[in-house]
Amino acid sequence: MVDGFGLMSVMAAPEERFPYINEVDIGGKKLLIRADLNVPYDENQNITDDTRIRGILPTVNYALDEGASVILCSHMGRPKGEIVPRLSLEPVARRMSRLLKKDVLMAPDCIGPEVKKMVDQMKPGDILLLENLRFHPGEEMNDDDFAKELAELADIYVNDAFAVAHRVHASVVGITKFAPVCVAGFLMKNELMYFHRAMENPSRPVVAIIGGAKISSKISAIENLLGIADKIIIGGAMANTFLKAIYYDIGSKSLVEDELVERARSIMRKARRNGVKFYIPVDCVVADRFDPKAETKITTVQEVPEDWMIADIGPATSALYAEALANAKTIIWNGPMGAFEIDAFSRGTFQMVHTVANTYSLTIVGGGDTDVAIHRAGESSRFTYISTGGGAFLKLLEGGTLPAIAALEEHARRKREEQESAA
Ligand code: 3PG
Repeated sequence: MVDGFGLMSVMAAPEERFPYINEVDIGGKKLLIRADLNVPYDENQNITDDTRIRGILPTVNYALDEGASVILCSHMGRPKGEIVPRLSLEPVARRMSRLLKKDVLMAPDCIGPEVKKMVDQMKPGDILLLENLRFHPGEEMNDDDFAKELAELADIYVNDAFAVAHRVHASVVGITKFAPVCVAGFLMKNELMYFHRAMENPSRPVVAIIGGAKISSKISAIENLLGIADKIIIGGAMANTFLKAIYYDIGSKSLVEDELVERARSIMRKARRNGVKFYIPVDCVVADRFDPKAETKITTVQEVPEDWMIADIGPATSALYAEALANAKTIIWNGPMGAFEIDAFSRGTFQMVHTVANTYSLTIVGGGDTDVAIHRAGESSRFTYISTGGGAFLKLLEGGTLPAIAALEEHARRKREEQESAA
């Protein structure tokens, strides 16, 4: 059963889907766990947010408790097939070691004789972190030789890297051709399960909040949500394109994607036809320039000064959106309401964080820095699920296929066929 979407993989009976780590015998085995440890570093390689590292601890701890040896691998940044020292995973090994209260050995590479030797010496309970997969061009090229060499390091391949599941890369797709046993980890399971709860048979009303700067990166998601959500709320600079579509003057400095104005108009028409309530801002924070020291004021969307820019939603919009969210049973949120990295333009986003946190609904958040705003507001624990995925989360919102999930499903299907023909 290949749906590529990942949803069946959580809901289907075990014999119809790929297995999870707790469904195979891992005691005494070597596990290659593909994680997404692509965490932000500051200029001195200090980790500024370790959410993704913490996210894989349940899988790692389970594997250690069961007596497996854990070989972890991940990408970091976009070194494009070259060795870029500032994108080494070494700081991640140190952080992981602190979190696990256990030594985490760092390998100098992710394949090659030296790595092989380190793996051969591993004992149950040991952890080794391989160096950045993307230091090799084979990773992003989904190269078979590279994938095979990775697969040969371990007895079992565990994919726990939801955040990179939308990429067709060797460590998440190609590797499933060569690893004898392929399973998914607990983080992957949670991501798929919560997404399933929000998108398939959700409690209604379902409200989707979509924000961020560029409508081009989210327009397919909005179109897909027209068939799922009862209400869609738009924030961030992408709202400008919708405002322009209904003939408002949004100021010459506001971000707008002119080529998408017609598509934005047709989305609003379709929302009306489908009975989806579509919300766009009624007022905004405007600034004379994009700068923390800019002059700012609040205006209605009808009165944006000609040579100013819209930088955040205004207080009337926040109140309107809070009212729209009051009866929500399921909320799916991607993207901020304004340029919240600048204090003067952050109020709309933080207000939205508190509004959503105060609802009595299933709240699923992912991508577009929304998680950063939630952590900064200290409200993380009041959200049902904060996804570790950006692009992968968006891909699911678009109704698209995650290649890494499709690859796990394909592997499971092949195994079933082999077993059936052997029987
Ligand atoms: C992410 O940060 O969204 C994932 O780690 C994927 O990274 P990528 O966009 O560089 O593939």
